[in-house]
Amino acid sequence: MLLKNKVAVITGAARGLGRAYAEAMAREGAAIVAGDVRDCADTVSAIRSANGRALGVSLDVASFASCQALADAATREFGRVDALVNNAALYANLKGGRFDQLDEGQWDRVMQVNVKGVWNCCRAIVPLMRTQKSGSVINISSLAPIYGMPYALDYSVSKGAVIAMTHSLARELGRDWIRVNAVAPSAVMTEGTREFLGVKLEKALQVIASGQSLQRTLETDDLTGTIIYLASDASRFVTGQTIMVDGGTVFL
Ligand SMILES: NC(=O)c1ccc[n+]([C@@H]2O[C@H](COP(=O)([O-])OP(=O)(O)OC[C@H]3O[C@@H](n4cnc5c(N)ncnc54)[C@H](O)[C@@H]3O)[C@@H](O)[C@H]2O)c1
Repeated sequence: MLLKNKVAVITGAARGLGRAYAEAMAREGAAIVAGDVRDCADTVSAIRSANGRALGVSLDVASFASCQALADAATREFGRVDALVNNAALYANLKGGRFDQLDEGQWDRVMQVNVKGVWNCCRAIVPLMRTQKSGSVINISSLAPIYGMPYALDYSVSKGAVIAMTHSLARELGRDWIRVNAVAPSAVMTEGTREFLGVKLEKALQVIASGQSLQRTLETDDLTGTIIYLASDASRFVTGQTIMVDGGTVFL
């Protein structure tokens, strides 16, 4: 088991990719702290019924106090945090549109959750990792800012900021032996993607797959291996990287 004796905090773990990361990391032996504005009961019970260890915490990443409460709950329950997966984001219900017609309130909310939320979780959890002199922060970005996704400038900019945070934090936290990496998935078949793309779903997925080297739609399970790798000691000398899980759409 690649994550035996490790403790992982996953934000946005009530459903979709966050839940899949939580369950996959638990199968590799990690104790899981699942945080979300939604109820994480299903995630926690799925992990416990497979004999894993899990704690569900009500979390709003936009609030530092809420992130601090998550860090405190993780410490009380499991005594340490080895991996933080910053996965929570506004994505599914966002209204796309031409850049000059996006709703200003939506723009602000996206920055509050997708950008400030990652900063908040890092400020709450990194102090614990510092005392341990080890830790892996995994920031979930997207292919959107790398490829240049049109009609979703707010979302794309927020995920570009996540890559910028990954670079700066990797430089800043290396001296504490804390690694910081990002994962940039292309469109994955989740409830969120169905909600985001709506009636354009089938057409959009076809277009996306046609631009890939591996021409099929990305599934949730295609991502879990990368998350486990970054949380595990197998990636112990990897930091500041953005791993694109996109079936070979863009190359560095
Ligand atoms: N699905 C894709 O195609 C895709 C592609 C690239 C990147 N991503 C990214 O992957 C992540 C998960 O995507 P998903 O498809 O599972 O989306 P999703 O909408 O199903 O999941 C997001 C989760 O975050 C939670 N959340 C939202 N705001 C929150 C807040 N303020 N505090 C705490 N939790 C909050 C939601 O309740 C939800 O459970 C997101 O960061 C998304 O941007 C997704």
